[in-house]
Amino acid sequence: MASFRAWSKVAPFIVFASWLSACAPGDPQNAMIAQSDFAEMVIGLFWQIIWWAAFVFIAVEAVLLYAIWRWRRRGAETTPQQIHGNTRLEIAWTIAPALVLASIAVPTVQVIFRTYDVPTGPDVLTIEAIGHQYWWEYRYNNGAVVTASEMHVPAGRPVLVKSTSADVWHAHWVPKLGIKRDSAPGRVTNIWFKSDIVDWYYGQCSEFCGLQHTNMRLRVRVDTPADFEAWLANQQRPAVRPAPGSLEERGLRAFENGTCAGCHVIEGTRAQARFGPNLTHFGSRTSLAGAMYDNTTENLDRWLENPQAMKPGNLMVVRVIDPEERRALVAYLQSLK
Ligand code: CUA
Repeated sequence: MASFRAWSKVAPFIVFASWLSACAPGDPQNAMIAQSDFAEMVIGLFWQIIWWAAFVFIAVEAVLLYAIWRWRRRGAETTPQQIHGNTRLEIAWTIAPALVLASIAVPTVQVIFRTYDVPTGPDVLTIEAIGHQYWWEYRYNNGAVVTASEMHVPAGRPVLVKSTSADVWHAHWVPKLGIKRDSAPGRVTNIWFKSDIVDWYYGQCSEFCGLQHTNMRLRVRVDTPADFEAWLANQQRPAVRPAPGSLEERGLRAFENGTCAGCHVIEGTRAQARFGPNLTHFGSRTSLAGAMYDNTTENLDRWLENPQAMKPGNLMVVRVIDPEERRALVAYLQSLK
């Protein structure tokens, strides 16, 4: 039976191992799962370096253990042979690490250059990604389509994301697609990828940008080419007009006449301010508040009631809206498919 002292030494490792087991496959932001060509390239390099590190570790430990055993003290009186310098050994242990480092450096530099080798050609889909405190704006076809927090791309087509910022430094990151670059005001950085797997991907800002940096999230939808084209065509249309006398129409009036129109644009209405996210097709999105919450009636109502309670420090400021008016606004916004 092991003593308490022995257990107290082992316990931290057990806790650490259990904690590591939380890194199970399938996590929405698991950077070790490659689902784009870019991610495969970067993770492939990672594993190459890990295998070199494992080789070095095993080789060094093996030599160390052999030396400990081979030249251990064998009796009280014996003195080990005293050695000073061994030219052949010293040359060997200078050359061997140099070769290992070169084997790591060559593919690393190759991959770094490839990450800057942006795809070109008529097939490339270019999207502008603009960081704002605390949400992402996405623009397609030179601003013919403007959306927020959710980027749609077609499967099997190279995508070039030109990223910048409207205020402070952000960084655009979607772990499974393997793209991460700073988004800085006054600069454009390129990130590119091609994914063949239709799915939702989750990402977030990864450069500290203020109080809600953690919740500056984003979603990427990799769609079939047909679904993507249908989505893009729909996003290009102005917002749907609510039926006269409907609850949604009351919502539209409240939107145009309230503080909402001071910050947001809904194409086809009098709301034309471009400070906050474009809401023309808000109802087609799965999330709200910088992809922090799912786009549900309850969440949207709570958001309009008090956005600062749901995401403290975000830049949305509203006057107090009475519940009836909120109901109309929620109905209107969710009708904007
Ligand atoms: Cu934007 Cu952190």
